[in-house]
Amino acid sequence: MKNEDLRGKTVLITGASRGIGEAAARAFAEAGANVALVARSTDKIATIAGEIGQSAIAIPCDVSSHIEVHAAVEKTIQTFGSLDVLINNAGVVTAMGPMQDADLEDWGKTIDINLKGVMYGMHAVLPDMIAQGSGTIINISSGAAHGPVEGWSAYCSSKAGAYMLTRAGDKEVRDKGVRVLGLSPGTVATEMQREIKASGVGPVSKLDWSVHIPPEWPAKALLWMCTSDADEFLGDDVSLRDEDIRRRVGLI
Ligand SMILES: NC(=O)c1ccc[n+]([C@@H]2O[C@H](COP(=O)([O-])OP(=O)(O)OC[C@H]3O[C@@H](n4cnc5c(N)ncnc54)[C@H](OP(=O)(O)O)[C@@H]3O)[C@@H](O)[C@H]2O)c1
Repeated sequence: MKNEDLRGKTVLITGASRGIGEAAARAFAEAGANVALVARSTDKIATIAGEIGQSAIAIPCDVSSHIEVHAAVEKTIQTFGSLDVLINNAGVVTAMGPMQDADLEDWGKTIDINLKGVMYGMHAVLPDMIAQGSGTIINISSGAAHGPVEGWSAYCSSKAGAYMLTRAGDKEVRDKGVRVLGLSPGTVATEMQREIKASGVGPVSKLDWSVHIPPEWPAKALLWMCTSDADEFLGDDVSLRDEDIRRRVGLI
């Protein structure tokens, strides 16, 4: 699929109320796609969808509820007729601190959103994508999926699990025409990084704000990942820290 082929396609983006998800919703709409914006902040997604126009709908949904995720997918298909791209982007970085001090309710909530939320999205869209013999699922990953960070046991575990869903999903559905891949964006100047800085936990909290890339960069990478040029990464993460990837995406 080339970028221009996104015209008339339908994309569901979780965590579209701000940050990377909002930038992605605007970029996909700009490329001619219909976009379904999913998040818990009802007012924010309604405002963004209103700014985008008729090709966007806002669907309030907590991705830690499989019932709400299934309903969001159903609503998207009812509205636009099909679903071609799912971007599992919703995420939180909570429950930070040493393992022995963890609030286990909080710790589990991170897994519910960052890991189970990704599984719920895949579970909800796969039957239709398999039936139509096409589709792309992109799970937003992290360097924390691949390497441990002290004080981040919940986040690292959840992202490592989501990375495994990318790998396992690809094994299951590549031969059915469904593309599954992940994006590790590097550090991005969003609310999440503000929360990390405020926490003071782990080396990422010490980074200077100027090193973070703008959310429009991962948004552009996501567009590129919908093209066959990214097919060598099926079942794996694309790292936006990689200079060669930045070049191929058209960022440098
Ligand atoms: N920023 C970085 O440096 C960085 C680096 C690597 C990976 N990532 C990943 O990139 C993704 C986006 O992060 P971001 O930086 O854009 O963070 P952000 O600005 O904090 O945005 C997070 C988004 O996720 C949504 N969300 C959180 N919990 C949700 C839930 N239970 N149900 C539905 N939506 C939920 C939020 O919306 P509501 O609160 O309105 O629900 C918001 O739209 C995350 O998966 C994150 O782990 C970010």
